[in-house]
Amino acid sequence: MEDNIASRLTSHRVPAVVPVQDILEDASAGLIDAPRSMPPKYFYDERGSQLFDAICETREYYPTRTEEALLRTCAREVIEQLRPDHIVEFGSGTARKTRHLFDACDRVGETAAYWPFDVCEEMLRDSGQQLVQEYDWLRVNALVGDYHGGLAGLPPREGRCLYLFLGGTIGNFTEQEAATFLAEVRAIMRPGDGLLLGADRVKDPGVLHAAYNDESGVTAQFNLNLLQVLNRELDADFCDTNFEHRALFNARASQIEMYLVSRCRQSVHLGSLGHTLELEAGERILTEISRKFTPARLESLLNGAGLAVQQHFEPDNGWFSLVLASPGEASVTSS
Ligand code: SAH
Ligand code: TRP
Repeated sequence: MEDNIASRLTSHRVPAVVPVQDILEDASAGLIDAPRSMPPKYFYDERGSQLFDAICETREYYPTRTEEALLRTCAREVIEQLRPDHIVEFGSGTARKTRHLFDACDRVGETAAYWPFDVCEEMLRDSGQQLVQEYDWLRVNALVGDYHGGLAGLPPREGRCLYLFLGGTIGNFTEQEAATFLAEVRAIMRPGDGLLLGADRVKDPGVLHAAYNDESGVTAQFNLNLLQVLNRELDADFCDTNFEHRALFNARASQIEMYLVSRCRQSVHLGSLGHTLELEAGERILTEISRKFTPARLESLLNGAGLAVQQHFEPDNGWFSLVLASPGEASVTSS
């Protein structure tokens, strides 16, 4: 029994097929000169992944709950329509919401293999172990890597694939990154495959602001944890009490922008770069954008990548979109 469980969980490292910068290159390009920024993937060390999980539980962070409710209602329809042999998920995290798709597989008697793809190896290991115990038919092939390194290095899969990109993570990409990523997904899709994409929507700025500034301060801890990652990886000496979390909605760009703001004039030494940052009080480091979409914007992004919208699921309040897309050009929309 134990052996059977272990044999259903494998792990693979996905090689980057397009060059990706390492943390030294990202820090030297992003931190040394203003406007300063770091790519969001460095949030997700083990503690960062746990903190993200805690964000999803806060009262103010509606996206997880809203997307989960949509998945609960559409999972069976999606599984019956696609009958996937493989479910490949980008940025899978704990894969909590993905269970609705596995439950639907259970109900319709499908046995798909699950390929969670994430930078956080600890999270992949823990969630993989849980999943093979919960679903006695499920094979989990964990993929450790950076999805900005291209998708051509994914292990070969025979049969139909359902690709998942949930959590509104597409909103953490710039316009250009989103277009490139979706085109890469399109390039590995074959006829009969599907992409289920979750994206957050434009809404009342007060609701957006609260979601990224929860009262219990978990989002602040998540943002500040980046400084610990930088201290460890760059031999740096950021002091987190010298920084504060700030998230604001930029209506013109239709995005939440998250910053770490220097509370005082300070010097921070980046040992691995042999460089000392001089920061003024109020100077900021952009750590994340989270773009908010209109249905039209989302559909044109997909169409631009050669993906046709099959179905567009949304709640009555229009707070979140789950779009099922297939390879092709034309767009057929329904609600
Ligand atoms: N899909 C989950 C988690 C979203 S958080 C949900 O909807 O709740 C974003 C996830 O993407 C994290 O698990 C993080 O580790 C992963 N991630 C971030 N940048 C990544 C990258 N460049 N390559 C692969 N995974 C990445
Ligand atoms: N994909 C999530 C989002 O944009 C990521 C996220 C949620 C996040 N809260 C955050 C990232 C706080 C950084 C900080 O909604």
